[in-house]
Amino acid sequence: MSVIDDVKARLDIVEVVSSYVSLNKAGRNFKALCPFHTEKTPSFIVFTERQNWRCFGACATGGDAIAFVMRMEKLEFGDALRLLAQKYGVPWQERHRDEQNSPFYQINHAAAQFYHKLLISSDGQETRSYLEGRGVNLEAVSVFSLGLSSRGVDTLRKHLTSLGYDEKQMEQAGLLYRSDGGTSRDLFRGRLMFPIHDSRGQIAGFGARSLDGSQPKYLNSPKTPVFDKGSILYGLPMATEHIRKENTIVVVEGYMDVIAAHQYGFRNVVASMGTALTDQQVAQIKSLASNIILSLDSDAAGQEATLRSLESSWRVFERRGMERGASGVVTLQPRQGLSLKIAILPTGKDPDEVIRESPQEWKRLLDEAQPLLDYLFAAVASRFDLGSSSGKAQATEALFPLIAGLNNTYDVERYFERLAQVLGVTVSTLEASVGRPQATARTRSRKEAAREVSLSPFAKYQGDPLEEYALSLMLKRPELRSSAVGLTPECFYRSENRELFAFLLTCAKIDDEVVGSLNEDLQVHLKHLVSKSLPSMNHKDGELSLKHCLHRLEERYLRELKTQEEVLLSQEEGNTEVDKMEKEILDRNEQLRKLFTAETGLRLKHD
Ligand code: UTP
Ligand code: MN
Repeated sequence: MSVIDDVKARLDIVEVVSSYVSLNKAGRNFKALCPFHTEKTPSFIVFTERQNWRCFGACATGGDAIAFVMRMEKLEFGDALRLLAQKYGVPWQERHRDEQNSPFYQINHAAAQFYHKLLISSDGQETRSYLEGRGVNLEAVSVFSLGLSSRGVDTLRKHLTSLGYDEKQMEQAGLLYRSDGGTSRDLFRGRLMFPIHDSRGQIAGFGARSLDGSQPKYLNSPKTPVFDKGSILYGLPMATEHIRKENTIVVVEGYMDVIAAHQYGFRNVVASMGTALTDQQVAQIKSLASNIILSLDSDAAGQEATLRSLESSWRVFERRGMERGASGVVTLQPRQGLSLKIAILPTGKDPDEVIRESPQEWKRLLDEAQPLLDYLFAAVASRFDLGSSSGKAQATEALFPLIAGLNNTYDVERYFERLAQVLGVTVSTLEASVGRPQATARTRSRKEAAREVSLSPFAKYQGDPLEEYALSLMLKRPELRSSAVGLTPECFYRSENRELFAFLLTCAKIDDEVVGSLNEDLQVHLKHLVSKSLPSMNHKDGELSLKHCLHRLEERYLRELKTQEEVLLSQEEGNTEVDKMEKEILDRNEQLRKLFTAETGLRLKHD
């Protein structure tokens, strides 16, 4: 049994939820004030038979016990799973990544200590003066465990050898490199050392600043099994608590920027380490806070590469946001906002300088950060030749998907009108040219029909065949994934499937590296899905099969919502919310009806 199944088998949703929220019995189910938003009338229900929960109020979202803990504790899937495992006595050896990788963390830790000791020793005096000159105080040196690497060619190697590490381990950890002549040397020599912690606080690698003007200015650890620049945010463990408290995360570029920010009390700040944000970083950021502020250099601002990377971040940001609140076809109310804003720095300054000069100015920059879309709109005229029709098309191509991905209808409209205005066309012209994505015909192969399994979608202990089939198809036939865009991950009931679905939609390609960025339990689950055998199908059959399956998931989701609402209604006599709820049920009926019409139409076509 996988850890996921084991955990699920032992926990009871009522028990899990009631350890956070006080629940009142309502028939067979339980009711409470929603813990995720402020409300006066309870709209949060725990369904005992289904082993799931739903907020019918502003959140309009729901899920299983793991999803509840993820949201409640603002944890990623793996961390929520671990917390539940510990709470419900599921043996959890840190057998995963951590155990395999612990030698790396150990050796990094030993190296960091060695570097730190040198910095605070008399030999570190010069470097300490340098830091002092830059305004870095001793508390910051200690909080960020800054260090100094000796100028000697093998000082660290000797030290680590004395601790019992061998050269191979040092090399694998990226602390030693082998020169062409075959002799090995310390990689970091005579540099100011910044240990880089992963989200759990373990030292994954190092950034090392030159102190004598030698190049490169920063030398970073090479990629190792525990260090990959693209998946780590510098300063995260020191910032996490503050990010959660403020529900806001500020992303800067550099090590020194993070240190200055923290020293001046801006403790929700992390760094992307000089590169554009990667999808993995965006996903991580989003699981921590609803408000994200990226600080951009004024010279990076406006550059095509930056803009493109922001567009891509936005896509990941919006898509995975669907987990947090219902969206897509079944949105009842606007999702509670996630916001992504840009703070532009004054020309020639980085956050470090701004903060040290004037913390108030930094605060003002953050307060006045612009929504990303506004920022992209502001750049549109300089990016594209809006006088030409091809320029208009390019601008539309860049902005329309972002607008369409917004979850608030009001915003969609406002920005859509703005786009038309910027392009110098009428809204109806724009509408006519962008068009609606055509729903493609959907049938299923006879083979698939024959394989169809009877479903028990809410089974507590077993997998969910429909969800798993859809995911297997998406994994084995990545080219089919585009058919799934637009389906809300909420249609997947099991958190592990919901996570994988959202994940598959966001990654451009699926290779070992990308998969390796997933939580280990999700990797196990993913491998299980990949190992399932599917009937051989040509592209077209595969596509139809996937579409059909997604359609069923959606239908099931809508039906389930409907049942849940009815359950809720039957308990809601005299509630002022009833009218609203009834209207939603009517809407839902309408959605289901449409779905059926579409489906019947397709079946007719096929038969
Ligand atoms: P900066 O050049 O802005 O560095 O690069 P900084 O952090 O402000 O450092 P100071 O103020 O010059 O001392 C921003 C970030 O880009 C990465 C580092 O993570 C750095 O903090 N970087 C920069 C590198 O990885 N390598 C480099 O050669 C330069
Ligand atoms: Mn700097």
